[in-house]
Amino acid sequence: MIEHTKAFVDGAWVTASSGEEFAVINPASGGCIARVADLSAGDAVRAVDAAHRAQPGWAKLSARDRAGILRRWHQLILQDQDALAALITLEMGKPLAESRGEVAYGASFVEWFAEEAKRVYGQTIPAHQPSQRILVTKQPVGVVVAITPWNFPLAMITRKVSPALAAGCTVVVKPSEDTPLTALKLAQLALDAGFPPGVLNIVTGVDAPGIGHALIADTRVRKVTFTGSTAVGKILYELSAATVKKLSLELGGNAPFIVMNDADIEAAVDGAMLSKFRNAGQTCVCANRIFVQERVYSDFVARFSARVRALTVGAGDQPGVEIGPLINADGLAKVEAHLADAVARGAQIEVGGMRHSAGPLFFTPTVVSGVTPQMRMASEETFGPVAPIYRFATESEALALANDTPYGLAAYCYTRDLGRAFRMYEGLEYGIVGINTGIISTEVAPFGGVKESGLGREGGPHGIDEFLEVKYGCFDLGSQDDRV
Ligand code: SIN
Repeated sequence: MIEHTKAFVDGAWVTASSGEEFAVINPASGGCIARVADLSAGDAVRAVDAAHRAQPGWAKLSARDRAGILRRWHQLILQDQDALAALITLEMGKPLAESRGEVAYGASFVEWFAEEAKRVYGQTIPAHQPSQRILVTKQPVGVVVAITPWNFPLAMITRKVSPALAAGCTVVVKPSEDTPLTALKLAQLALDAGFPPGVLNIVTGVDAPGIGHALIADTRVRKVTFTGSTAVGKILYELSAATVKKLSLELGGNAPFIVMNDADIEAAVDGAMLSKFRNAGQTCVCANRIFVQERVYSDFVARFSARVRALTVGAGDQPGVEIGPLINADGLAKVEAHLADAVARGAQIEVGGMRHSAGPLFFTPTVVSGVTPQMRMASEETFGPVAPIYRFATESEALALANDTPYGLAAYCYTRDLGRAFRMYEGLEYGIVGINTGIISTEVAPFGGVKESGLGREGGPHGIDEFLEVKYGCFDLGSQDDRV
């Protein structure tokens, strides 16, 4: 199943100049599944050399030709869906069904941006002088660095790389050191699809700060796109300022999930299950605070708890498993610390609340009620299978509680009142709002946050703009010249 453990630079598989390798761990078993090339900051700069050399030629291809290669990549990813899904589960832990879903989700960005490549339209603007014409065109920004997380080892790469490639940029990807194998398999498929050398490069390595600094300090890199924590995003923002790079940041969230008295409670429970427990709660858009209005509070807690109790926990490659392990010991420790703090301050555990016997990184899906804004889990992202439930009285209280956070990625609200649905949509200070749905992720819509959840949008018609510069030309035609 594991074909590649070397990094991918300039169309070739390369070892670290030091010869060093690092271990990739299966979080379900704790076993080492591969040893991967551990590139240094200096090695990473060689990937920028390659991307910089390849960029003009790639940008000169017609959009149709770039789209053709992207479409072939899309087909190859789908043809290899099972192998890719198995790899995601092996190195990241999510259940196979979710991994298959991630491959389809990730591939959908490649297809979408293959189509968008051909729609990078310009504009003419009526000029301010009779002799002048104003032309607006869009050009690729140049070399892009994409720094991607472990929770979606495939989709977060394709969501960044596909619009960049479609726009005519070349890319250096630094995947998470927890999940490099999926990235390397994607590179093999990109090679098979016909991307020229240097257009897509994958830099594997554990020295994320050193590699990140070197890549961002390089003046040839014109754009950085990152998904990960707000703390790291702020560092990248600062580093990018030195060379005034374009930047997209998809950072932490603290998603409110609001259930109004007038909601369809069964639908709200379905939505909360999907939103909270996808990827064992390890997504930036996971419901992190579930607010339920007084009249339906007990009913919701009872129905939701029954569903959570029935979830099957285990290794992601086992049939029927719905909740896999946490990614590492730090992830588990955070879940436990949030829960201990909530219980110490008076919250009640309805279901779960303890580690699971499936292995050292497994946690039993948990519902905790009576949570209040003073508890740690109200202000920090838990990133695990713990669902905290808060009680509220009025619509304006729900809105105030939901917005009382520096984050603003995704929010959800269940209501059958049309006016309330619009009021909540407009009032929630979030980049993404799901009304009567717990799943908002799709390639056709702009994904991204406000406030400390980030900058820029990924996916949808807006996604490609992040990799384009707008150029304006002012043409003075002079006066008529009738000389023969
Ligand atoms: C994320 O957790 O960063 C991405 C989730 C998604 O695309 O749905």
